[in-house]
Amino acid sequence: MALLPTFDMLLFGGTGDLVTRKLLPALYRRHAAGQVSPESRIVGIGRKAISTEDYVSQAESGCREFLGKEFDAARWSSFSTHLNYVKVEAAVAEDYAALSALLAGREDLVRVFFYSTASNLFATISHNLARAGVVTPLARVVLEKPLGNDVASAELINQEVGTIFPERQIYRIDHYLGKEAVQNLMALRFGNALFEPLWRRGLIRHVQITVAEELGVERRGQFYDTTGALRDMVQNHLLQLLCIMAMEPPASSDPDSVRDEKLKVLRALRPLRDRDVLTKTVRGQYKAGAVRGAPVPGYLEEADIAPDSTTETFVALKAEIDTWRWAGVPFYLRTGKRLQDRLTELVVTFDEVPHPIFDKPPTTQAANLLVIRLQPDESITLTILAKNPGEGMRLKPVDLALDLGETFKTRSLDAYERLLMDTVKGNLTLFMRRDELDAAWRWIDPIRAGWEQYDERPKSYIAGSWGPAASSALIGRDGFAWHDEI
Ligand code: BG6
Repeated sequence: MALLPTFDMLLFGGTGDLVTRKLLPALYRRHAAGQVSPESRIVGIGRKAISTEDYVSQAESGCREFLGKEFDAARWSSFSTHLNYVKVEAAVAEDYAALSALLAGREDLVRVFFYSTASNLFATISHNLARAGVVTPLARVVLEKPLGNDVASAELINQEVGTIFPERQIYRIDHYLGKEAVQNLMALRFGNALFEPLWRRGLIRHVQITVAEELGVERRGQFYDTTGALRDMVQNHLLQLLCIMAMEPPASSDPDSVRDEKLKVLRALRPLRDRDVLTKTVRGQYKAGAVRGAPVPGYLEEADIAPDSTTETFVALKAEIDTWRWAGVPFYLRTGKRLQDRLTELVVTFDEVPHPIFDKPPTTQAANLLVIRLQPDESITLTILAKNPGEGMRLKPVDLALDLGETFKTRSLDAYERLLMDTVKGNLTLFMRRDELDAAWRWIDPIRAGWEQYDERPKSYIAGSWGPAASSALIGRDGFAWHDEI
């Protein structure tokens, strides 16, 4: 891969979880791939008063842990020469002088400010950067999700950040868009003529999107307990997957053509209002159980969780898209922590033949399913009915299966490797535009309001299961079942 232009990458929240687990390992890998020029700099920015040496050794132990076998001591020592640390208290304007000193004379280089902090600091940091005179024409700002808690707070942040950075310099991250498999979904839909004629009502009966995690809330209790699965996962990752599944073919692959089409999907989502939340959504919260045979505590026993918390760790819902293409085709979305498997999967169930001439196979599964698995492995499986060998016309579902890892025999880039490179290159395609974010919140907010109005508390589920029984009932009422239940 080609060398990236020389850059300064400034990581606010530099000692935090995301930087340690994802961003530094991603930058290390790009360095190992020979893409980072010797003059590029990576600057950790945090409140702690530590030296660059301390920061480097902290970063090293994080990278050793999260890169595992990929970590190489010699590579690390050349990578670490890019690292610096600067102590900045986000709200203290004077602290930013240290940054402007560090950046002086490098104004003609790409400069990426990555805000990996709580989003209520985004406006303050932006204003202080501007006051310090470090927002150059080549500067970009990366905003981590969740951006705000609702439409009003998101709008305020966008407005404030927008007074400092024009929209074309703002990169709103949804790391699912950086996953190779998600881009593959675009390739599948828009690189092949085969699927497009089938991709509509009358041929598709329903679509399922599952993002299941085995992990619990880990060390993020404080953040998670005020956020919940609806805001942490559905508002962004699941809705983005839904957009890519449902969008019209864009006129080109340029950022705005793609984002225009995604926006149309979000705007066409039928609002879930009032009592809809009781019939079309399910909230859940895990209690103690076992994941892969190991006992795990319940959500209320996790660190930094209020003992009477009613935050949901699971959401299932039925979404409908009011367009000609999708009228009458339900999209069932489901996500949760401490579920049975780590699994991200999109399942398209096609209609049955209009006039069957053979006996139906003895299975509840539909004849034709397209299963696009994004995690843990990447695969595409199309189920068709074939004749069972032997006498008589007995049909049986069989799979046409493509394992993408096997096929390409190469490691997929981690989402953050791709996204960080895109920020340096200035490619906005895989980032959310302001109006997309706004439309997503506008659909999410009434769900939360409905839960509050009807005092809809999360239903408990055992850690290591597939969520509360109500989730199976939600899809079962329409005569369908989740893919894992078939
Ligand atoms: C993050 C959420 O955005 O996505 C986490 O905040 C979640 O709660 C994570 O665990 C899942 O990402 P991935 O890439 O592991 O599927």
